[in-house]
Amino acid sequence: MYIAIKELHSFIGFMTLTLFSFAIIFNLISWLGKKPFTNVNKIITLVGMVSVHTQVLIGLILYFLSPLGLSNFSGVAMKDAQSRLYILEHPLIMIIAFVLVTVGYSKAKKLTDDNAKYKAIITFFFISLILILSRIPWSIWI
Ligand code: HEM
Repeated sequence: MYIAIKELHSFIGFMTLTLFSFAIIFNLISWLGKKPFTNVNKIITLVGMVSVHTQVLIGLILYFLSPLGLSNFSGVAMKDAQSRLYILEHPLIMIIAFVLVTVGYSKAKKLTDDNAKYKAIITFFFISLILILSRIPWSIWI
């Protein structure tokens, strides 16, 4: 079970980064090209957000199954940078990114002006992407 969820988290991680980055780039190009915010923008933005939601949900399950997750929580482990990344920094920063993505999407949904919609999505999603990229265990993953 643990291995299956770990592999899923790793695989969905690639998909999340691709779909989420694509949502930012697509909206950025539309905004710079002064194009209206269409249903296509809406769907691509929604897919980007849902990919982060899915990955966070799988991450939460993994946190309780992995020997690097909750079961490794101790004062000693917190003093080790790699252990601390999995126990605290990775989950916490990813959850903050999840909240920002959701807030950005909800804000954009309420706005009527296309320019303001683009700004809300691009700003919130971009900050989230930076946070996500900053706490991925790159050395182990790739
Ligand atoms: C957008 C959100 C997230 C992304 C992109 C992400 C990405 C990753 C990646 C790439 C790995 C390395 C996988 C591997 O070594 O094969 C990993 C490991 C891990 N992640 Fe996440 N993660 C996210 C959210 C979360 C959350 C919210 C939690 C917990 C609450 C979490 C818990 C873990 C744990 C415990 C591991 C270590 C698994 C192990 O090797 O045993 N992740 N994550």
